[in-house]
Amino acid sequence: MKIQEASIITSAVGPKHYPEHDLAEVLLLGRSNVGKSSFINTIINRKALARTSSQPGKTRTVNFYNAGDLFCFVDMPGYGYAKVSKRERESFQQMIGNYIEYRENLALVVQLIDFRHPPTKDDISVHRWLESEGITPLVVATKGDKVPKNQKHKHIAQIAQGLDIYEEDVLVFSKETKEGKLEAEGIIEEVLAAFEGE
Ligand code: GTP
Ligand code: MG
Repeated sequence: MKIQEASIITSAVGPKHYPEHDLAEVLLLGRSNVGKSSFINTIINRKALARTSSQPGKTRTVNFYNAGDLFCFVDMPGYGYAKVSKRERESFQQMIGNYIEYRENLALVVQLIDFRHPPTKDDISVHRWLESEGITPLVVATKGDKVPKNQKHKHIAQIAQGLDIYEEDVLVFSKETKEGKLEAEGIIEEVLAAFEGE
């Protein structure tokens, strides 16, 4: 899969503003600053279509990106960022919950976890909740370039253990080295093929 063109479809503040289209959607979920926008940019081969920030919690809208007319990335606000108010956190949770339960375009959830650290409480509870909704997310460990090679296995084991999944199901990714890019694209392709066959 080589995505030649990508563009933002819309920046929505709520379900009323979600686009009506037939594109399958790939939802990105993860803590603020974990690398959601960077993951999107890497897959769509753009440096900065999805805005990245050194300022955690910056993405507050739900952003829809058309990826080469093949599918659509949905960039949700990051969860678990301490500096947003409790009310804001609750409204994020509600927004994500609504999307997951009702959005018919949803084909795949990608849960991003920082490869440097064990999954946080929020990572674990989001993972459990997805499973309870019947969703098996693709787990992507971000910032793979920040962990030395000889520590890699330890960090994979740490994430697998924390989420109670198989080590083989942790996909290490880096926007710097492009590690994991081909594999992620392959998985997205498979999911899209299955989704279209439905
Ligand atoms: P919010 O929109 O605030 O929730 O953040 P986000 O999850 O979209 O994260 P974003 O992609 O903006 O990345 C946050 C920071 O981490 C930026 O400074 C990125 O450059 C950096 N970053 C993301 N992915 C990688 C990676 O693979 N390697 C390295 N070294 N840095 C990364
Ligand atoms: Mg972002």
